[in-house]
Amino acid sequence: MLKNRSIISIADLAEEDINEIFTQADKMLENLNTGQKMNDMSSKILATLFYEPSTRTRLSFESAMERLGGSVISMADSKTSSTSKGETLADTVRIVESYSDIIVIRHPLEGAALLASKFSSKPVINAGDGSGEHPTQTLIDLYTIRRELGSIDGKTITIIGDLKYGRTVHSLLSALSRYNVTVNLVSPESLALPKHVYNEVKGQLNVNTSSSLEKFLADTDILYVTRIQKERFTDKNEYAKLIGSYKITGREAGMIKRGAIIMHPLPRVDEISPDVDNMKTAKYFKQAYYGVPVRMALISMIAGD
Ligand code: NCD
Repeated sequence: MLKNRSIISIADLAEEDINEIFTQADKMLENLNTGQKMNDMSSKILATLFYEPSTRTRLSFESAMERLGGSVISMADSKTSSTSKGETLADTVRIVESYSDIIVIRHPLEGAALLASKFSSKPVINAGDGSGEHPTQTLIDLYTIRRELGSIDGKTITIIGDLKYGRTVHSLLSALSRYNVTVNLVSPESLALPKHVYNEVKGQLNVNTSSSLEKFLADTDILYVTRIQKERFTDKNEYAKLIGSYKITGREAGMIKRGAIIMHPLPRVDEISPDVDNMKTAKYFKQAYYGVPVRMALISMIAGD
């Protein structure tokens, strides 16, 4: 179903695609746990093209490909590539597609992954395009909810933080609008969800918005925390004003519904205090770990034989 397809937006995936990815990810997770060797991708090369900083996304894609027995070529820093000589993204992609079987790209500009896919005959995966989308993070987020809480339907998800620039939030909300869930959006006013994202989901989701978190905690099944996206601010004073405007500490974590989980796409700066890390509710490191089996599933479904 996914063979040779590019994944630019989470909307590119039908519900059956997502379910199939999760079924495959469960198998990958089992293979990882039992140490079973995998050769699914032994003749294939994955290229990572990263024009923005990344730790988890790039390394988990690369780890996933290596675990599948495939190989990886990587541009982790555009400063050391021909981009610094003035090469366009289109030209770079034209070359990289001839060196590889699947391309994973992250870029500071919204729409860059879509553009890359137009110049590539090989499938392109969007690993973050500016404030646009980050569809594979959403797959990991949904997979985490499913593994840790059994199902997505019927849950109340409270998303707190930078809803304006946070691309993981935009993709997550788009995906959640297919499920029967309640969503609470909490942010400083200046970091509210962009209108176009709100309009896309409001008819399909039960959405509440507020600048205060506390009233939602007792009903929350999933608290999804995000970082203020410092790099997107044109006015650094604006960012400075927002530093520390919300924080999850042991107090907030203790007020959340019993059995609830706290997630975060990471990296964390100061929005979750370290005393939450060892609480049973904290699932953000596990969530990052699930990045490997989910990306293994995706790579093998798109580029496998
Ligand atoms: C996120 C991103 O790059 O959008 N990180 C990630 O891929 N896990 C979140 C962030 O940078 O805040």
